[in-house]
Formats: sequence, C-alpha cells, structure tokens
Amino acid sequence: MIKSHKAVLVALSFSLIGAVSARADATAASPASRGEYLARAGDCVACHSVPGGKAFAGGLKMGSPLGAIYSTNITPDRETGIGDYTLEDFDRAVRRGIAKDGHHLYPAMPYPSYAKLTDEDVRALYDFFMKEVPPAHQPNPKNEIPWFLGFRWPLAVWNLLFTNSASYVVKPDHDAAWNRGAYLVQALGHCGACHTPRGLTWQEKALDEGGAAYLSGAPLDGWSAPNLRGNLRTGLGQWTEADLIAFLKSGHNRDGTVFGSMIDVVNNSTPYLTDDDIAAIVVYLKSLPATTAEPAYAYDNGTTEALRDKQPSQGAAALYVGRCAVCHGTDGKGFSPYLPPLAGNPTVLDSDPSSLINLVLNGSTPLVVKGSPDAYRMPQFRIELTDAQIADVVSFIRAGWSNDATPVGAAQVSELRKTTDPTSDRVIILKMR
Ligand code: HEC
Ligand code: HEC
Ligand code: HEC
Repeated sequence: MIKSHKAVLVALSFSLIGAVSARADATAASPASRGEYLARAGDCVACHSVPGGKAFAGGLKMGSPLGAIYSTNITPDRETGIGDYTLEDFDRAVRRGIAKDGHHLYPAMPYPSYAKLTDEDVRALYDFFMKEVPPAHQPNPKNEIPWFLGFRWPLAVWNLLFTNSASYVVKPDHDAAWNRGAYLVQALGHCGACHTPRGLTWQEKALDEGGAAYLSGAPLDGWSAPNLRGNLRTGLGQWTEADLIAFLKSGHNRDGTVFGSMIDVVNNSTPYLTDDDIAAIVVYLKSLPATTAEPAYAYDNGTTEALRDKQPSQGAAALYVGRCAVCHGTDGKGFSPYLPPLAGNPTVLDSDPSSLINLVLNGSTPLVVKGSPDAYRMPQFRIELTDAQIADVVSFIRAGWSNDATPVGAAQVSELRKTTDPTSDRVIILKMR
C-alpha cells in the first residue's frame, strides 16, 4: 500500500506549467464562435502551441523533475492530431483526462478543473476544434520520462482519490453573476491550478470556495502565484473591483502589472472575455474571505524621507536609488499604471519572495494584449547584480514604506539563479527570453 502510494507520488511530482512563454497572438480579433470563446476562456492555446508554431499543434515542453513532457496536437489532423476523436472521446480527454487510446493524461493538462465544464460547453468546444481549427500535420514529440517512471496507471488511482468528475452545480444561495464567476474561475479558467497550494501528491488542496486553501497562493516554477482572496496585505483585499477588472483586461492597474506565468493568461485569455464575464469573475473573487486577519496596509513616508535626506552611497538603499528608483520612484509609488508601485504591493508583501527575486534576476517577458505590445517591461539584473546585492535590494523593498515583509537571503537568490538559467542543467523552466 505504502509502495503504491509512493508510485503515485513520484509519478505526479510535476512542476505545473512548463516552458510557457508569451505567445503573441497574430489573430487578435474577438472570438467568432461560442466554442472559440470557450477555448479562449480555457486558455487551451497557451499550452497547446509553441511560440511561432501553428495554433493548437502542441509540442510545448513542460518541465518535470522526472523528465520533460510535451503538450499534444489537438488540431483535427487525423494522423497526428485529434481528427478521429468523437465527441465522447474528446469529452473523456477534457473532463476525465483519458486519451482516445485509453492512456491517462498527466494532470499538466488541467482536467481536474475542466471536469466541472457543462455538457453544452464541451460540445461547443468540440465543434470549434473539429470545424474551425485548421488541421496541422505535426507528430507529437515523445515524452522524456524514463520508462520505469513513465507508467501512467498510478494516475487512475490519483483520479479516484482527488478528481471530482461532476459538472459545476449552481449554488442557489448565490446570484447568477457569482455562479457564472465561480464556473469561469473553477472550470475553464483553471485559476486554481496555479493559485491553489498543492498537497504531497500534487493534488490541489481545494477545488472551490468550500476550502480555505482555495486560491490562497502557491509556488509555481520559480514564481509565486499570489493569494487571490480577501487578505488585506498579501491578497486582493485592498484591490477594488475596478482594479481587478483593469488587471484582467489589460494586465495593468494602479496597484501592479502582470508578469511571470500570469502573462500567458493575459496574453491569450482574459482580455477576450466579455465585460459581463470579467465582472462575474470579479464578483466571485471578491466573495472569497481572507485566510488570516492582516492589518490593512498604510503608506509610511519614512523610507522616502531617509532616501532623500541621506542620499545613500552604499548598501541596499544605494542599490535601490541607483538601480530601481528611476522607474519605481524614491517614494516607492511608481508611475501607474505602467511603472507599478512597490509600496503596499501584494506581490512585494507576499510571504514567498520567489516572484520578486525571479523578476529582478530575469526581468519580464512581453505582454501583448489583443495584439498591442506593452512598451514598458521590467529589465533583468542577472548580470549586473550579485546574489547578495539582489537579496539586499529585494529585502530593502520588502522592508521599506512599512511593507514589513521578511528579508531575503542570498542563498534563495542563488537557488533561483541556477534554476532559471538556460545554460544550467538544473533548469526547471526555460521561460525567460
Ligand atoms: C496547462 C496546460 C494545458 C492547458 C491549459 C490545456 N491543456 Fe490539453 N493537454 C496538456 C498536456 C500537457 C497534454 C498531454 C498530457 C499527456 O501527454 O499526458 C494535454 C492533452 C490534451 C488532450 C489529449 C490529446 C491527445 O493527444 O490524445 C486533449 C483533447 C486536450 N489536451 C484538450 C485541451 C483543451 C480543449 C484545452 C482548453 C479547454 C486544453 N487542452 C488546455 C496541457 C494543457
Ligand atoms: C499559469 C499559471 C496561472 C494561471 C492559470 C492563473 N494565474 Fe493568476 N497569477 C499567476 C502568477 C505567477 C501571478 C504573479 C504574477 C503577477 O502578479 O502578474 C499571478 C497573478 C495574478 C493576479 C495579480 C495578483 C497580485 O496580487 O498582484 C491576479 C488578480 C490573478 N493572477 C488572477 C487570476 C485569475 C482570475 C485566473 C484564472 C482566470 C488566474 N489568475 C490564472 C499564475 C497564474
Ligand atoms: C527601466 C525601468 C525599471 C527599472 C530600472 C526597474 N524596474 Fe521594476 N518594473 C518595471 C516595469 C515596467 C514593471 C512592470 C512590468 C513588468 O512586470 O515587466 C516592473 C515591475 C516590478 C515589480 C513587480 C511589481 C508588480 O506587482 O507589478 C517589482 C517587484 C519590481 N519591478 C522591482 C524592481 C526592483 C527591485 C528594481 C531595481 C533592482 C527595479 N524593479 C528596477 C520597470 C523597472
């Protein structure tokens, strides 16, 4: 029993989203059909395409400590894609994670979320893939998992234990907008696949608002997907509905700017949703209570005054003034919405500093909202700054302006430097440009 549990554990210890990078989309038009709209909401293209490749032809390499796996060709090509899938086959793959030939898919394909799709939406998606996506003849690369770890049967056990295979059930004690939002977030948007912490066997600790862990923040391939609940400092407690709408539609708001693996979501999915659907997502997210009581953030001018009066020439403060202040301001308030504030920013206050370190090391990938690229991106400091300097400057912004977050050590920077370096053999992910 213990042994087979271990097998499940090993087979499932994947890092979630692999080498996902910005896929600038040439066809920035609004979705033409209901199925295409749903494919946008499910962000299928982000995983099932490679930059510059044919849409949905697969081949995206996804990181895993066992070896790389690749997303598959889901165009209607009969030989290399899903052209011979019936509606039932497609449904079984998307909602239950079983391919046509019966093998279990790795949950890098977010079928535990898609399990909640309605029958009508699965049918509309099927029609889109069969009738509107052009077939692309492109054989699937072989997964690089050693044969002795490559058995897929433990996945059947895992599915039994952790996947709830029923469609979303409307909650009558909530209104239509809340229910629509819950459906979009939990099912198609698979927000929890990144934002909900995972247990020992890689299962999401909660699949809906019934669990306090739901969307409470999780580490993810060198980033931290932050808390999306009402937490006042580390969550969305101080974001207004308008802030959230702006972020999902444009990747910017007065509090922050999208980066890391969230770029895929904004480049390919949320800006294509209707205003009503975005509003519904926001209603649902705003209904999630905080996991812990945190005092509200209040701006404190002390850091700004110290930087202006003392004009530091060495140490962390000097690094901040020399490398960061030109864009983020001596007052830490940035120049919104293009140069985000660091004061009171939930990303900066996050108990997991991975996103901060990763961003300072490697900078940000392109943001392209419906075809328009963003002019301002965070530069990388991988070459200019040492691990100790990055630790110092990140600790400085975490302490300044009464941010009051814990300091960061050079060892944490050194670890992320290795795992995000394209020339290292310890790379977890190659998402940096
Ligand atoms: C987070 C990444 C990700 C997203 C998002 C995603 N997929 Fe997948 N999908 C995968 C991976 C990886 C596989 C292959 C898994 C394996 O080989 O075990 C896969 C496999 C599949 C398969 C099985 C195909 C075959 O070769 O037999 C289908 C069908 C599929 N996905 C459809 C979809 C649809 C439809 C959407 C959007 C609603 C979608 N996927 C979104 C990662 C993703
Ligand atoms: C592929 C993984 C992934 C998926 C899927 C994903 N996110 Fe994110 N999200 C992240 C990461 C990483 C960040 C941190 C970077 C940033 O702030 O842009 C983030 C940040 C955010 C933020 C900004 C929070 C803050 O405090 O700055 C919001 C809001 C958000 N996500 C909402 C969503 C919603 C809603 C969904 C589902 C529709 C979703 N995310 C799906 C990875 C993901
Ligand atoms: C040339 C201008 C520029 C400089 C210099 C710069 N940044 Fe940034 N930074 C940006 C831009 C633009 C963004 C938002 C877009 C993005 O994420 O790429 C950003 C984003 C950030 C974020 C994420 C905030 C959020 O939630 O969106 C942090 C944290 C950050 N920078 C810290 C730093 C630190 C620390 C330094 C100095 C070591 C620094 N930046 C130097 C332009 C700059």
